[in-house]
Amino acid sequence: MTGSRILSLGHYQPSRVVTNDEIAQLVETSDEWIRDRVGIAARRIAGDETVADMAAAAADKALANSGLNAADIDLVVVATCTSIDRSPNVACRVADKLGIDAPGAYDVNTACSGFAYALGTVDHAVRAGASRNALVIGAEKLSDFTDWTDRSTCIIFGDGAGAAVVTAAGEDEPAGVGPVVWGSVPERGDAVRIQGWRPYVAQEGQTVFRWATTALAPLALQACERAGVDPSELAAFVPHQANSRIIDGIAKRLNIPQAIIAKDIVESGNTSAASIPLALSKLVERREVPAGAPVLLFGFGGGLTYAGQVVRCP
Ligand SMILES: CC(C)(COP(=O)(O)OP(=O)(O)OC[C@H]1O[C@@H](n2cnc3c(N)ncnc32)[C@H](O)[C@@H]1OP(=O)(O)O)[C@@H](O)C(=O)NCCC(=O)NCCS
Repeated sequence: MTGSRILSLGHYQPSRVVTNDEIAQLVETSDEWIRDRVGIAARRIAGDETVADMAAAAADKALANSGLNAADIDLVVVATCTSIDRSPNVACRVADKLGIDAPGAYDVNTACSGFAYALGTVDHAVRAGASRNALVIGAEKLSDFTDWTDRSTCIIFGDGAGAAVVTAAGEDEPAGVGPVVWGSVPERGDAVRIQGWRPYVAQEGQTVFRWATTALAPLALQACERAGVDPSELAAFVPHQANSRIIDGIAKRLNIPQAIIAKDIVESGNTSAASIPLALSKLVERREVPAGAPVLLFGFGGGLTYAGQVVRCP
């Protein structure tokens, strides 16, 4: 039962930057309100790119950074809740675009916690001997599901993708992906939803806010405990980028003043399953976290699902 580790990361964001002032031309809101209540200054919105295009672009970069090539990949897993096509799934499309031959290929939909869930399943596949080198991707085109007349949701979301190459750790190497802590609150699952035919994102914002700021810190601490990492050792905390105040609220309860707290939300908005790999990939690209240092990932969102694990920085 060899563990797994993240070998490399990559990300992709559409070129179009949409500022708060631009959104204030669509609905009654302001740059000041959005910065103050959510912490977002801008977000990227896709043009013609599909979820699969963005996923493949991020995965291509992660693969280029890994030293492996397409022939080495035997599993592709994509976390997304915004793919329009029911089939083929996004993972198959990514494999086709990157020329990956005959991989296991499946999508995971747990909304904003998707990347941590997908990473958990890939870690299990590696441990079970079902995969040696995998691509794990979070990719979302939330703009397709945004009601641009609803100011309670259209200010929040953005589009993008982040990807990781995950490989089997060596026999004598410590696991670089810690045990996943995952779960959900199905009885309150409707608090964030994209439901029905031709749906839009809808949410009970305050319910989500209260849940996130009260219930999640102890679960994130469980992920540290299961990895055998004391929170004081964390080099960084990369939570789902839902709201700056939620991120600060959880981080405060974790009591990790030494850790970098990812705040990609400021520039990217809430990109759901893409937000964790996007933020982590940027931290690594900027060399803000040393290789091998423990980083706590924690996703949460529609369902109300959550998942997190401690990973070693590539
Ligand atoms: C959505 C969210 C930003 C709203 O912030 P809030 O402080 O809870 O705001 P409220 O919904 O209580 O609304 C407060 C006031 O601001 C107004 N308001 C709501 N959206 C606004 C906007 N974009 N611009 C200006 N005013 C707005 C409301 O109408 C309300 O006005 P009222 O007091 O006159 O009725 C916040 O609840 C949140 O971030 N929740 C978590 C949601 C989330 O993370 N979802 C994704 C999960 S993955």
